[in-house]
Amino acid sequence: MTELAAESAPDSAAAAAGTGVVPTDREEVLVLDFGGQYSQLIARRIRECGVFAELLPHSLDLGRIKARNPRALVLSGGPASVYEPGAPALRPELLELGIPVLGICYGMQAMVRELGGRVEGAERGEFGRTALTLAGDGGRLLAGLPAEQQCWMSHRDSVYEAPPGFTGLASSPGSPVAAFENEAAGLYGIQFHPEVVHTPHGQVILERFLRDLAGCEERWTMSSVIDEQIAKVREQVGGAGVICGLSGGVDSATAAALVHRAIGEQLTCVLVDHGLLRKGEAEQVVANFREGLGIKLIHVDAEDRFLARLAGEDDPETKRMIIGEEFIRVFEEEARKLPDVRFLVQGTLYSDVIESGGAEGAATIKSHHNVGGLPDDLDFDLIEPLRMLFKDEVRNVASELGLNDRMVWRQPFPGPGLAIRIVGGEVTKERLEILREADAILQEEIRAANLYRNLWQSFCVLPVVRSTGVQGDGRTYAYPIVVRAVTSDDAMTADWARLPYDLLERVSNRIINEVSHVNRVALDISSKPPATIEWE
Ligand code: XMP
Repeated sequence: MTELAAESAPDSAAAAAGTGVVPTDREEVLVLDFGGQYSQLIARRIRECGVFAELLPHSLDLGRIKARNPRALVLSGGPASVYEPGAPALRPELLELGIPVLGICYGMQAMVRELGGRVEGAERGEFGRTALTLAGDGGRLLAGLPAEQQCWMSHRDSVYEAPPGFTGLASSPGSPVAAFENEAAGLYGIQFHPEVVHTPHGQVILERFLRDLAGCEERWTMSSVIDEQIAKVREQVGGAGVICGLSGGVDSATAAALVHRAIGEQLTCVLVDHGLLRKGEAEQVVANFREGLGIKLIHVDAEDRFLARLAGEDDPETKRMIIGEEFIRVFEEEARKLPDVRFLVQGTLYSDVIESGGAEGAATIKSHHNVGGLPDDLDFDLIEPLRMLFKDEVRNVASELGLNDRMVWRQPFPGPGLAIRIVGGEVTKERLEILREADAILQEEIRAANLYRNLWQSFCVLPVVRSTGVQGDGRTYAYPIVVRAVTSDDAMTADWARLPYDLLERVSNRIINEVSHVNRVALDISSKPPATIEWE
């Protein structure tokens, strides 16, 4: 049982089942999702050990599981109590596939329920940092680890007796059996969460399970991903033409670079420059792609078109809609000029795949982030070479493909760009210029302070209000600039970044002195929730 699990639906991985990923001869581990808050993280940590892991619904058809020929199964945590009505049951066949199984938290308790130990509601649950004490030498799973260690717990029920044939390996104040194993049967369980950083030995335990108990060779690397995807793209595309829209962000850039490795000249990239990008961004993309990587790139300067359509609009949703529509129009015009284009490359990531089929809430949140789909009559088949990768893995792929560091580490940037950061008023060329200059100063100072990579995002906002100030001998009546800098893991929640005062001072002085029409700089100190990262 996990305290935080209400946030993710039990079948949050359901969409992943439909990823269309075909079984390969690569070594892989399946993480069966019982609805835990940390299920995605388990898959990530396993991948960090060099073994490909995919998150799938716990109810996935047995035949499909077998067809994948996994080296091991991991059963995730989940919010339920194993005896409560409707609790996701563990099918006993999963424990009889002849491959090692590791149950984590609810996954362990479900094993106990199936195999005949005793799991019951404890008087008090255990949530957070907890002391773990090894029983004896820790068995095979925990051998060599300190007799006393910290771990991260999140459960209300506890295992009081291991099933017959199992040996208890550790205990904690609230969990008489906090880890167990039956080596002959290849079954292992831990009550705590090895995947979170608050379990300092968690990664060692996962590694032990994968390498020593499941016999994994740990050869999955980003270069193996690149090779695999190159082969797949070549097979999918044949001799046809492929188009890819670049946004300036790392996902579309990486997808494009990978496809270019596979099919070279058959790929044409299109950068729709709506005039709402950050300072120097379009130029950087062009230089990086055309000169750096030798990729065919059409740079469409469409600023006038976008600004003409945005004239007089101050409602944020209307701005988004206009930009989305116009974007499609421009992209479509370019696509139609190219002969024999049958495929469209998209930088969809694994988190998008999981989210879009997951909890309804998540799907809704996501939809407002999409700039817009393409019209049906364009009729492209999709190529999504990053569909199985997490963001940090994409950055590694990007580096391996030779994208420069600036691109690899670029912070997320909304599709409608600076337009949604001009708040409460119309988007004009002058306001864009002010915002772009202020933003460039902020980025420059943050990079100089070596903080850029520590922040999820950092940017400026231009509220369309003016206030008085005094500069030189005269009064001014000018705009404020709001500095927004946040830390986050996934943009679902975020905290305002505690930027050093001297950095803030430099940023404020420079913006006020160097950017005309600005006489004030303010700092946004709101977290998400209740605020959002972007203003708009
Ligand atoms: P909020 O403002 O909802 O933003 O906290 C969450 C994350 O989403 C990004 N964002 C977008 N990304 N297209 C995108 O690709 C968009 O239209 C868009 N709008 C917001 C935002 O920058 C933050 O990282």
